[in-house]
Amino acid sequence: MSLKDKRILLIIAGGIAAYKSLDLIRRLKERGAAVTPVMTKAAEEFVTPLAVGALSGGTVFTDLFSRTQEQDVGHIRLARENDLIIVAPATANLMAKMAHGLADDLASAVLLARDCPVLLAPAMNPKMWSAPPTQRNLATLLMDGVETIGPMKGEMAERGEAGKGRMAEPMEIVVAAEKRLDDSPRPLAGKHAIVTSGPTVEAIDPVRYIANRSSGRQGHAIAAALARLGAQVTLVSGPVAIADPPGVETLHVESARDMLKTVEKALPADIAVMVAAVSDWRAADTAQQKMKKKPGEAPPPLALTENPDILKTIGHHARRPRLVVGFAAETRDVTAYATDKLARKGADLIVANDVSEEGVMGGGHNRVTLVTKSGAEEWPDMSKDAVAERLAHWIAERFVAQASLPF
Ligand code: CTP
Repeated sequence: MSLKDKRILLIIAGGIAAYKSLDLIRRLKERGAAVTPVMTKAAEEFVTPLAVGALSGGTVFTDLFSRTQEQDVGHIRLARENDLIIVAPATANLMAKMAHGLADDLASAVLLARDCPVLLAPAMNPKMWSAPPTQRNLATLLMDGVETIGPMKGEMAERGEAGKGRMAEPMEIVVAAEKRLDDSPRPLAGKHAIVTSGPTVEAIDPVRYIANRSSGRQGHAIAAALARLGAQVTLVSGPVAIADPPGVETLHVESARDMLKTVEKALPADIAVMVAAVSDWRAADTAQQKMKKKPGEAPPPLALTENPDILKTIGHHARRPRLVVGFAAETRDVTAYATDKLARKGADLIVANDVSEEGVMGGGHNRVTLVTKSGAEEWPDMSKDAVAERLAHWIAERFVAQASLPF
């Protein structure tokens, strides 16, 4: 999947999110795309054509009737020479113009004259987004075959306003563009995968908790890799410091019990990959108030109780996904312990992590052995991204050749 040599016309409309379009240009170009920017008048209030041109490395088109620009390009030609048009930010006004076929400036004229797909990244005040006219225009545009990414939920530039209206992040737009232009095979298209990732956090009292050092990198990378192969992915993640992977629905949870509930709610699924480092135990009683130290008294004992085993629950579930994958952290006898785990947890595959080496937990690389009923397959030391990519392909191969399931 690549944007190499793709010609992208980027229309920047007038919204505060226009500043993110500068980063979007950079990221599209990093991936080998040629970016031709078109700016509306209002966009020039937020970013300058000079900055846009410096990043895109070429002419920035702004006027419908420009003596210099019109002579050597013309809006019709500008509309014709692209693999994809991205509108980011797409304002309520520009969407309304598109939906009604207005063409009173260069951006709207190009959109009307286009003969390539369009991807909109809407950004506006949440009230403007949910307003009936905008929703009607959106429905019209979707019917016309226009694709959208976002808007996302979150804080708005206007103080105190939150809701759906924030423009998708540049990387999310890049991934959506790649997806739109990608013609490589998608062996997992139509399949739903649930992935768990990160640690769980178990409260002791309102300020203290039990957790572990899992970074979520492996689980997040697997979720992204499955999505790249066409799967619809629900990622259920404990608290992590890394971004939600693009192209994936990410649900944030804290405790093991939250995680189980969220995973069960996401069923049915075809594939489950349980990568989270779920805390085996939680405090038997969670104090409602902060526990205070009492001078002269011994520290309070911490009684623990067992958490539900999510992998085991899903592995034996009435609505069990066809393929259930678990992870195992081992320091020795990797295959023997993983084989035992396979049976106990009702999994089809255990990816055993050799954590005897330093830097695996929370680090960037991994050495794994794949254990199924039919044997073990050792993979060399690889980056977590490479493990994810290879595992996603491994899963896709088994899934396509249905006969080889269960192993
Ligand atoms: N797992 C889970 N819910 C739990 C505990 C573990 O879903 N409450 C999943 C993990 O996501 C992982 C696998 O089960 O896929 C790990 O199993 P676990 O029994 O925790 O094994 P190890 O971490 O390898 O540790 P140990 O062998 O000590 O049990």
